[in-house]
Amino acid sequence: MSETIIRIEHLYKTFGTGDGKVEALRDIDLEIQKGEIFGIIGLSGAGKSTLVRCINLLERPTSGKVTVNGQELTALKEKDLRKARRSMSMIFQGFNLLMQRTALGNICFPLELNGLRGEAKWREKRARELLEIVGLPDKADAYPVQLSGGQKQRIAIARALADDPKVLLCDEATSALDPTTTQSILALLKKINREMGVTVVVITHEMRVVEQICDRVAILDHGVIQEQGDVSEIFSNPRTEAGRRLVMPNGEKIHVLPANRLVRLAFNGATSGEPIIATLAAEQGIRLNIISADTRTIGDKSFGAMVLGLPQDETEAARALIYLREIPGVTAEEVTDLVQ
Ligand SMILES: Nc1ncnc2c1ncn2[C@@H]1O[C@H](COP(=O)(O)OP(=O)(O)OP(=O)(O)O)[C@@H](O)[C@H]1O
Ligand SMILES: [Mg+2]
Repeated sequence: MSETIIRIEHLYKTFGTGDGKVEALRDIDLEIQKGEIFGIIGLSGAGKSTLVRCINLLERPTSGKVTVNGQELTALKEKDLRKARRSMSMIFQGFNLLMQRTALGNICFPLELNGLRGEAKWREKRARELLEIVGLPDKADAYPVQLSGGQKQRIAIARALADDPKVLLCDEATSALDPTTTQSILALLKKINREMGVTVVVITHEMRVVEQICDRVAILDHGVIQEQGDVSEIFSNPRTEAGRRLVMPNGEKIHVLPANRLVRLAFNGATSGEPIIATLAAEQGIRLNIISADTRTIGDKSFGAMVLGLPQDETEAARALIYLREIPGVTAEEVTDLVQ
Protein backbone atom coordinates (compact mmCIF):
# COMPACT_ATOMS: atom_id res chain seq x y z
CA MET A 1 0.00 0.00 0.00
CA SER A 2 1.57 3.31 -0.97
CA GLU A 3 1.68 6.16 1.48
CA THR A 4 1.95 9.82 0.58
CA ILE A 5 5.04 11.52 2.05
CA ILE A 6 4.82 14.90 0.27
CA ARG A 7 1.48 16.48 -0.56
CA ILE A 8 1.23 19.82 -2.32
CA GLU A 9 -2.21 21.39 -2.69
CA HIS A 10 -3.17 24.43 -4.75
CA LEU A 11 0.27 25.93 -4.37
CA TYR A 12 0.96 29.36 -5.89
CA LYS A 13 4.21 31.31 -5.74
CA THR A 14 4.43 34.86 -7.01
CA PHE A 15 7.55 37.01 -6.91
CA GLY A 16 7.35 40.79 -6.90
CA THR A 17 4.41 43.05 -7.60
CA GLY A 18 3.06 45.27 -10.36
CA ASP A 19 4.95 45.21 -13.64
CA GLY A 20 7.77 43.14 -12.16
CA LYS A 21 5.41 40.41 -10.99
CA VAL A 22 6.39 36.83 -11.84
CA GLU A 23 3.95 34.01 -11.28
CA ALA A 24 6.56 31.29 -10.84
CA LEU A 25 4.12 28.54 -9.79
CA ARG A 26 0.40 28.25 -10.40
CA ASP A 27 -2.06 25.86 -8.78
CA ILE A 28 0.39 23.02 -8.22
CA ASP A 29 -1.10 19.76 -6.96
CA LEU A 30 1.34 16.95 -6.38
CA GLU A 31 1.54 13.79 -4.31
CA ILE A 32 4.83 12.00 -3.85
CA GLN A 33 4.74 8.52 -2.37
CA LYS A 34 7.02 7.23 0.36
CA GLY A 35 9.99 5.32 -1.08
CA GLU A 36 9.63 6.40 -4.69
CA ILE A 37 11.96 8.36 -6.93
CA PHE A 38 9.90 11.21 -8.31
CA GLY A 39 11.08 13.40 -11.18
CA ILE A 40 10.13 16.98 -11.86
CA ILE A 41 11.19 17.92 -15.36
CA GLY A 42 10.95 21.21 -17.20
CA LEU A 43 12.87 23.70 -19.27
CA SER A 44 14.92 26.51 -17.77
CA GLY A 45 12.70 29.00 -15.96
CA ALA A 46 9.80 26.54 -15.65
CA GLY A 47 9.79 26.95 -11.87
CA LYS A 48 11.56 23.75 -10.82
CA SER A 49 13.91 25.25 -8.24
CA THR A 50 11.11 27.40 -6.86
CA LEU A 51 8.95 24.30 -6.47
CA VAL A 52 11.63 22.31 -4.69
CA ARG A 53 12.32 25.26 -2.38
CA CYS A 54 8.62 25.43 -1.62
CA ILE A 55 8.70 21.75 -0.61
CA ASN A 56 11.11 22.44 2.26
CA LEU A 57 9.73 25.93 2.71
CA LEU A 58 13.04 27.68 2.08
CA GLU A 59 10.65 29.65 -0.08
CA ARG A 60 7.27 30.40 1.45
CA PRO A 61 4.41 29.73 -0.98
CA THR A 62 2.15 32.70 -1.71
CA SER A 63 -0.79 30.38 -1.06
CA GLY A 64 -1.54 26.69 -0.83
CA LYS A 65 -0.54 23.85 1.44
CA VAL A 66 2.59 21.76 1.77
CA THR A 67 2.37 18.63 3.92
CA VAL A 68 5.42 16.45 4.55
CA ASN A 69 5.31 13.32 6.64
CA GLY A 70 1.82 14.18 7.83
CA GLN A 71 2.89 17.62 9.08
CA GLU A 72 1.49 20.69 7.39
CA LEU A 73 4.64 22.77 6.99
CA THR A 74 2.77 25.83 5.76
CA ALA A 75 1.01 26.02 9.14
CA LEU A 76 4.13 25.72 11.34
CA LYS A 77 5.93 28.46 13.26
CA GLU A 78 9.61 29.03 12.37
CA LYS A 79 10.93 26.99 15.32
CA ASP A 80 8.80 23.94 14.55
CA LEU A 81 9.52 24.36 10.88
CA ARG A 82 13.27 24.12 11.53
CA LYS A 83 12.70 20.83 13.30
CA ALA A 84 10.39 19.49 10.58
CA ARG A 85 12.86 20.46 7.87
CA ARG A 86 15.37 18.03 9.30
CA SER A 87 13.47 15.17 7.69
CA MET A 88 14.51 16.61 4.30
CA SER A 89 17.88 17.40 2.85
CA MET A 90 19.04 18.74 -0.44
CA ILE A 91 21.84 18.46 -2.99
CA PHE A 92 22.62 20.96 -5.75
CA GLN A 93 24.28 21.33 -9.11
CA GLY A 94 27.17 23.29 -7.55
CA PHE A 95 27.68 20.81 -4.63
CA ASN A 96 27.88 23.67 -2.04
CA LEU A 97 30.67 22.10 0.01
CA LEU A 98 32.60 24.10 2.60
CA MET A 99 35.99 24.68 1.00
CA GLN A 100 37.86 25.06 4.30
CA ARG A 101 36.77 21.67 5.55
CA THR A 102 37.83 18.16 4.60
CA ALA A 103 35.33 15.66 3.19
CA LEU A 104 34.92 14.26 6.69
CA GLY A 105 34.44 17.75 8.13
CA ASN A 106 31.79 18.53 5.54
CA ILE A 107 29.84 15.39 6.33
CA CYS A 108 30.02 16.06 10.10
CA PHE A 109 28.80 19.63 9.63
CA PRO A 110 25.01 19.11 9.72
CA LEU A 111 25.42 16.88 12.80
CA GLU A 112 27.35 19.64 14.58
CA LEU A 113 24.75 22.20 13.59
CA ASN A 114 21.81 20.48 15.18
CA GLY A 115 23.94 19.89 18.26
CA LEU A 116 21.86 16.98 19.48
CA ARG A 117 23.70 14.19 17.81
CA GLY A 118 26.33 13.07 20.29
CA GLU A 119 29.99 13.86 20.53
CA ALA A 120 32.77 14.33 17.98
CA LYS A 121 33.76 10.65 18.05
CA TRP A 122 30.24 9.56 17.24
CA ARG A 123 29.98 12.09 14.42
CA GLU A 124 33.22 10.92 12.90
CA LYS A 125 32.12 7.30 13.03
CA ARG A 126 28.89 8.21 11.29
CA ALA A 127 30.75 10.25 8.65
CA ARG A 128 33.07 7.32 7.90
CA GLU A 129 30.08 5.01 7.47
CA LEU A 130 28.66 7.48 4.98
CA LEU A 131 31.96 7.75 3.08
CA GLU A 132 31.76 3.98 2.76
CA ILE A 133 28.19 4.18 1.40
CA VAL A 134 29.09 6.76 -1.24
CA GLY A 135 32.19 4.79 -2.25
CA LEU A 136 34.92 7.20 -1.07
CA PRO A 137 36.31 5.72 2.16
CA ASP A 138 39.82 6.89 1.27
CA LYS A 139 38.88 10.55 0.78
CA ALA A 140 38.11 11.45 4.40
CA ASP A 141 40.98 13.95 4.63
CA ALA A 142 40.70 15.43 1.14
CA TYR A 143 39.59 19.03 0.69
CA PRO A 144 36.99 19.88 -1.97
CA VAL A 145 39.65 21.35 -4.31
CA GLN A 146 41.33 17.96 -4.32
CA LEU A 147 38.17 16.19 -5.49
CA SER A 148 36.62 15.77 -8.94
CA GLY A 149 33.06 16.97 -9.63
CA GLY A 150 31.65 13.48 -9.23
CA GLN A 151 33.55 12.98 -5.97
CA LYS A 152 32.33 16.33 -4.65
CA GLN A 153 28.76 15.34 -5.38
CA ARG A 154 29.32 12.03 -3.55
CA ILE A 155 30.54 13.96 -0.49
CA ALA A 156 27.54 16.29 -0.78
CA ILE A 157 25.27 13.23 -0.89
CA ALA A 158 26.98 11.77 2.19
CA ARG A 159 26.52 15.09 3.99
CA ALA A 160 22.86 15.18 2.96
CA LEU A 161 22.35 11.71 4.43
CA ALA A 162 24.15 12.40 7.71
CA ASP A 163 21.06 13.20 9.73
CA ASP A 164 18.95 10.32 8.36
CA PRO A 165 16.57 12.30 6.18
CA LYS A 166 13.37 10.72 4.90
CA VAL A 167 13.44 12.82 1.74
CA LEU A 168 16.38 13.80 -0.47
CA LEU A 169 15.71 16.75 -2.79
CA CYS A 170 18.08 16.92 -5.76
CA ASP A 171 18.10 20.15 -7.76
CA GLU A 172 19.94 19.48 -11.04
CA ALA A 173 22.41 17.36 -9.08
CA THR A 174 24.06 15.92 -12.17
CA SER A 175 23.88 18.91 -14.52
CA ALA A 176 27.52 19.88 -14.00
CA LEU A 177 28.82 16.36 -14.58
CA ASP A 178 29.86 14.44 -17.68
CA PRO A 179 27.62 11.59 -18.90
CA THR A 180 29.61 8.76 -17.29
CA THR A 181 29.83 10.50 -13.92
CA THR A 182 26.14 11.37 -14.21
CA GLN A 183 25.36 7.66 -14.61
CA SER A 184 27.36 6.75 -11.53
CA ILE A 185 25.74 9.45 -9.37
CA LEU A 186 22.28 8.38 -10.54
CA ALA A 187 23.15 4.77 -9.71
CA LEU A 188 24.20 5.92 -6.23
CA LEU A 189 20.93 7.80 -5.72
CA LYS A 190 19.03 4.70 -6.75
CA LYS A 191 21.02 2.57 -4.32
CA ILE A 192 20.31 5.00 -1.50
CA ASN A 193 16.63 4.98 -2.38
CA ARG A 194 16.37 1.18 -2.50
CA GLU A 195 18.67 0.31 0.41
CA MET A 196 17.95 3.13 2.84
CA GLY A 197 14.32 3.73 1.87
CA VAL A 198 14.91 7.46 1.31
CA THR A 199 12.31 9.11 -0.93
CA VAL A 200 14.12 10.98 -3.70
CA VAL A 201 12.82 14.00 -5.61
CA VAL A 202 14.83 14.67 -8.75
CA ILE A 203 14.63 18.07 -10.41
CA THR A 204 16.07 18.13 -13.90
CA HIS A 205 15.79 19.46 -17.43
CA GLU A 206 17.16 16.19 -18.80
CA MET A 207 14.84 13.47 -19.89
CA ARG A 208 17.58 10.86 -19.64
CA VAL A 209 17.97 11.49 -15.93
CA VAL A 210 14.28 10.85 -15.37
CA GLU A 211 14.33 7.75 -17.55
CA GLN A 212 17.23 6.25 -15.72
CA ILE A 213 15.99 6.44 -12.16
CA CYS A 214 12.50 7.86 -11.72
CA ASP A 215 9.36 5.86 -11.04
CA ARG A 216 7.00 8.74 -11.75
CA VAL A 217 7.39 12.17 -13.27
CA ALA A 218 5.64 15.53 -13.43
CA ILE A 219 6.15 17.88 -16.36
CA LEU A 220 6.41 21.50 -15.27
CA ASP A 221 6.00 24.21 -17.87
CA HIS A 222 5.69 27.95 -17.20
CA GLY A 223 4.85 27.31 -13.57
CA VAL A 224 2.09 24.78 -14.28
CA ILE A 225 2.14 20.99 -14.04
CA GLN A 226 1.04 19.89 -17.47
CA GLU A 227 0.94 16.18 -16.86
CA GLN A 228 2.16 13.59 -14.39
CA GLY A 229 2.26 9.82 -14.11
CA ASP A 230 4.43 6.74 -14.59
CA VAL A 231 7.62 7.52 -16.48
CA SER A 232 7.01 4.85 -19.12
CA GLU A 233 3.48 6.10 -19.76
CA ILE A 234 4.31 9.80 -19.98
CA PHE A 235 7.41 9.31 -22.09
CA SER A 236 5.92 6.87 -24.53
CA ASN A 237 2.74 8.85 -24.95
CA PRO A 238 2.95 12.48 -23.85
CA ARG A 239 -0.48 14.09 -24.00
CA THR A 240 0.45 17.74 -23.80
CA GLU A 241 2.44 20.05 -26.02
CA ALA A 242 4.92 20.64 -23.18
CA GLY A 243 5.31 16.89 -22.71
CA ARG A 244 5.94 16.34 -26.39
CA ARG A 245 8.45 19.16 -26.48
CA LEU A 246 10.50 17.45 -23.78
CA VAL A 247 10.10 13.95 -25.12
CA MET A 248 10.38 14.46 -28.86
CA PRO A 249 13.87 14.38 -30.38
CA ASN A 250 15.58 17.76 -30.09
CA GLY A 251 12.44 19.07 -28.41
CA GLU A 252 11.53 20.74 -31.69
CA LYS A 253 8.44 20.95 -33.77
CA ILE A 254 8.62 19.04 -37.01
CA HIS A 255 8.41 20.86 -40.30
CA VAL A 256 6.63 18.92 -43.01
CA LEU A 257 4.74 19.71 -46.15
CA PRO A 258 1.14 20.49 -45.24
CA ALA A 259 -0.14 17.77 -47.57
CA ASN A 260 1.58 15.00 -45.61
CA ARG A 261 -0.40 12.96 -43.17
CA LEU A 262 1.50 11.95 -40.09
CA VAL A 263 1.08 9.05 -37.74
CA ARG A 264 2.63 8.88 -34.32
CA LEU A 265 3.58 5.48 -32.91
CA ALA A 266 4.00 5.02 -29.20
CA PHE A 267 5.92 1.92 -28.19
CA ASN A 268 5.11 0.31 -24.90
CA GLY A 269 7.83 -2.18 -24.26
CA ALA A 270 6.81 -4.79 -26.81
CA THR A 271 8.54 -3.93 -30.05
CA SER A 272 11.27 -1.71 -31.35
CA GLY A 273 10.60 0.70 -34.21
CA GLU A 274 12.94 -0.28 -37.01
CA PRO A 275 11.64 -3.81 -37.81
CA ILE A 276 8.08 -2.47 -38.16
CA ILE A 277 9.11 -0.15 -40.96
CA ALA A 278 11.18 -2.87 -42.63
CA THR A 279 8.38 -5.44 -42.33
CA LEU A 280 5.80 -3.06 -43.72
CA ALA A 281 8.01 -2.42 -46.72
CA ALA A 282 8.92 -6.09 -47.25
CA GLU A 283 5.50 -7.66 -46.65
CA GLN A 284 3.07 -4.98 -47.80
CA GLY A 285 5.19 -3.00 -50.19
CA ILE A 286 4.33 0.20 -48.31
CA ARG A 287 7.08 2.70 -47.67
CA LEU A 288 6.80 5.14 -44.80
CA ASN A 289 9.05 8.10 -44.15
CA ILE A 290 10.53 8.26 -40.69
CA ILE A 291 10.07 11.90 -39.70
CA SER A 292 11.49 11.48 -36.23
CA ALA A 293 12.29 8.61 -33.95
CA ASP A 294 13.19 8.38 -30.34
CA THR A 295 12.91 4.81 -29.17
CA ARG A 296 14.98 3.56 -26.32
CA THR A 297 15.34 1.04 -23.55
CA ILE A 298 14.29 1.89 -20.04
CA GLY A 299 14.87 -0.70 -17.37
CA ASP A 300 14.16 -3.97 -19.16
CA LYS A 301 11.53 -2.45 -21.48
CA SER A 302 12.01 -0.69 -24.71
CA PHE A 303 9.70 2.17 -25.56
CA GLY A 304 9.51 5.59 -27.06
CA ALA A 305 7.87 7.29 -29.97
CA MET A 306 8.22 7.62 -33.68
CA VAL A 307 6.54 9.89 -36.18
CA LEU A 308 6.00 8.53 -39.66
CA GLY A 309 4.82 10.19 -42.85
CA LEU A 310 2.02 8.21 -44.53
CA PRO A 311 2.09 7.54 -48.29
CA GLN A 312 0.32 10.09 -50.52
CA ASP A 313 -1.85 7.33 -51.94
CA GLU A 314 -4.97 7.15 -49.75
CA THR A 315 -5.53 3.41 -50.06
CA GLU A 316 -1.92 2.70 -49.13
CA ALA A 317 -2.14 5.15 -46.22
CA ALA A 318 -5.28 3.40 -44.96
CA ARG A 319 -3.63 -0.03 -45.25
CA ALA A 320 -0.57 1.21 -43.40
CA LEU A 321 -2.74 2.57 -40.58
CA ILE A 322 -4.63 -0.71 -40.25
CA TYR A 323 -1.35 -2.62 -40.12
CA LEU A 324 0.20 -0.30 -37.55
CA ARG A 325 -2.86 -0.35 -35.30
CA GLU A 326 -2.79 -4.14 -35.10
CA ILE A 327 0.72 -4.42 -33.74
CA PRO A 328 0.60 -5.45 -30.07
CA GLY A 329 2.16 -2.97 -27.66
CA VAL A 330 2.04 -0.12 -30.17
CA THR A 331 -0.45 2.75 -30.26
CA ALA A 332 -0.83 4.48 -33.58
CA GLU A 333 -2.66 7.77 -33.96
CA GLU A 334 -2.78 10.39 -36.65
CA VAL A 335 -1.39 13.71 -35.51
CA THR A 336 -1.89 17.19 -36.76
CA ASP A 337 -0.50 19.32 -33.95
CA LEU A 338 3.16 18.64 -34.75
CA VAL A 339 2.92 20.65 -37.93
CA GLN A 340 3.82 24.31 -37.65
N1 LIG B 1 13.79 35.23 -5.86
C1 LIG B 1 13.18 35.47 -7.03
N2 LIG B 1 12.73 36.71 -7.32
C2 LIG B 1 12.08 36.97 -8.48
N3 LIG B 1 11.86 36.05 -9.43
C3 LIG B 1 12.28 34.80 -9.21
C4 LIG B 1 12.98 34.44 -8.00
N4 LIG B 1 13.29 33.13 -8.07
C5 LIG B 1 12.81 32.69 -9.25
N5 LIG B 1 12.21 33.68 -9.93
C6 LIG B 1 11.56 33.57 -11.25
O1 LIG B 1 10.68 32.45 -11.22
C7 LIG B 1 10.73 31.72 -12.44
C8 LIG B 1 11.12 30.28 -12.17
O2 LIG B 1 12.46 30.22 -11.73
P1 LIG B 1 13.17 28.87 -11.26
O3 LIG B 1 14.52 29.23 -10.78
O4 LIG B 1 12.27 28.17 -10.29
O5 LIG B 1 13.23 28.05 -12.63
P2 LIG B 1 13.96 26.67 -12.93
O6 LIG B 1 12.95 25.80 -13.59
O7 LIG B 1 14.62 26.14 -11.72
O8 LIG B 1 15.04 27.10 -14.02
P3 LIG B 1 16.53 26.52 -14.26
O9 LIG B 1 16.34 25.21 -15.02
O10 LIG B 1 17.15 27.55 -15.15
O11 LIG B 1 17.20 26.35 -12.96
C9 LIG B 1 11.69 32.46 -13.33
O12 LIG B 1 10.96 33.30 -14.18
C10 LIG B 1 12.54 33.24 -12.36
O13 LIG B 1 13.04 34.41 -12.95
MG1 LIG C 1 16.62 25.77 -11.20
